[in-house]
Amino acid sequence: MAAIDTSARGNWNTKLGFILAAAGSAVGLGNIWRFPTVMAENGGAAFLFIYALLVFIIGYPVMVAEMSMGRSSQKNPVGAFRALSNSRFFPIVGFWMVLCGIAILSFYIVIAGWTISYFFEQIFFYAGWYDLASFIADTDNGWLNAILAIIFMGLTISIILGGVSDGIERAVRMLMPMLVVIIVILIGYVLFQPGASEGLRVYLVPDFSAITPDLILAALGQAFFSLSLGMGALITYGSYLSKKENIPEAAGYVTVFDIGIAFLAGLLVMPTIYIAQSQGMVIFDDDGNLVAGIALIFQVLPELFHEMGGLIGLIFGATFFFLLSIAALTSSISLLEVPTSYTIDEHRMPRKKAALLIGGTVTIISIILSFNTGGIDILNYVFSDLGLPLGGLMICLFLGYVWKTENARHEIRSGFEGLDEHWFWPVWTFFVRYICPILIGLVLVVTAYELIGTLFA
Ligand code: TRP
Repeated sequence: MAAIDTSARGNWNTKLGFILAAAGSAVGLGNIWRFPTVMAENGGAAFLFIYALLVFIIGYPVMVAEMSMGRSSQKNPVGAFRALSNSRFFPIVGFWMVLCGIAILSFYIVIAGWTISYFFEQIFFYAGWYDLASFIADTDNGWLNAILAIIFMGLTISIILGGVSDGIERAVRMLMPMLVVIIVILIGYVLFQPGASEGLRVYLVPDFSAITPDLILAALGQAFFSLSLGMGALITYGSYLSKKENIPEAAGYVTVFDIGIAFLAGLLVMPTIYIAQSQGMVIFDDDGNLVAGIALIFQVLPELFHEMGGLIGLIFGATFFFLLSIAALTSSISLLEVPTSYTIDEHRMPRKKAALLIGGTVTIISIILSFNTGGIDILNYVFSDLGLPLGGLMICLFLGYVWKTENARHEIRSGFEGLDEHWFWPVWTFFVRYICPILIGLVLVVTAYELIGTLFA
């Protein structure tokens, strides 16, 4: 088996390297753009509560499952399902995951483009070039969106071409801690502004009557999206992971780090929304829907930096959007790596050609979305909220009943001495075989039922 060309496929330099790369994949727009937006749409604290619950009872077990499948098979998702079973059905599931990756990446780079434009917006605003600032901040400008998305895709492709290790590891190791520091300082500032306490209350005091099937689906989709689960990104990253590493431990770090950053982002954005509202900005319409929709954080955060004023506002604003675009980059890399490694492994294409082919396809879709940002909501719903949990369900069923937990045990044992005596083992297998598939299945069935209901209403 040593003949499997791990060297040609790339490997993480160090244990920390893998954790950093997986954390870099997890932490991104999902934490700072998507989480606060979906939460604001779903009423705050009740969403946070369900989200946190689902991250630990579903997200974490699925993450361990993906990493062990990846490391055992040394393959992309399609190849992994093929290598670990004789099933004809599951490679098709793998192919669906590759499609999900392409679809999610297509809208991801449009939003990521906005992080670049708002970096410049902060600078132009500070320089007093207000016309230029509002020009670059116009998220309805199709051409602008398209150009920014193309730039962002170019950055993503250039990293993918270089292979998987150095760039990602270095970027995450230095820049993610900076992002955390900046967010924490901003929270400190925001909490002293008038109106902040209302936002804090909405974020932290749950109204459990707000929990609906829609909220639960949104929280489940968000959990998968934020942890980069359900489309084989961590199967692919796991395939570059050394046999010496402890998978449950690595997954634990990634999960805690990711939810930690999302929590902080919420602590920053929710009060900021209510501060903006108390100053007269219209955030919610009469039905309680977000006026700015997916542009919510780009509506409220730049304002916050402008209000901080002067050089301080510029430094915080520009640094924040710069770091956010780096965080988005370390995530978009993992989204592109899945279809790319699939094309390399299964169609025997050289890395360069594969990355350009997939990257080009994604760019075309994202240009269309640049002019029709409403399409982002639809892709987001179909591929993130429905597609990723479906992928996660399939991973659990595959691991639990096709590949079988005994084989997973063999894989996880490597790097985890004492697994057989550890409580982790029985608990995790119980979750992967029963709890996770039943819960995900239930949410998907109820959602399908509701969808059919509204279609025929
Ligand atoms: N998790 C990333 C974020 O929060 C986005 C992402 C990267 C992703 N890879 C993924 C989402 C794979 C789903 C599947 O921004």
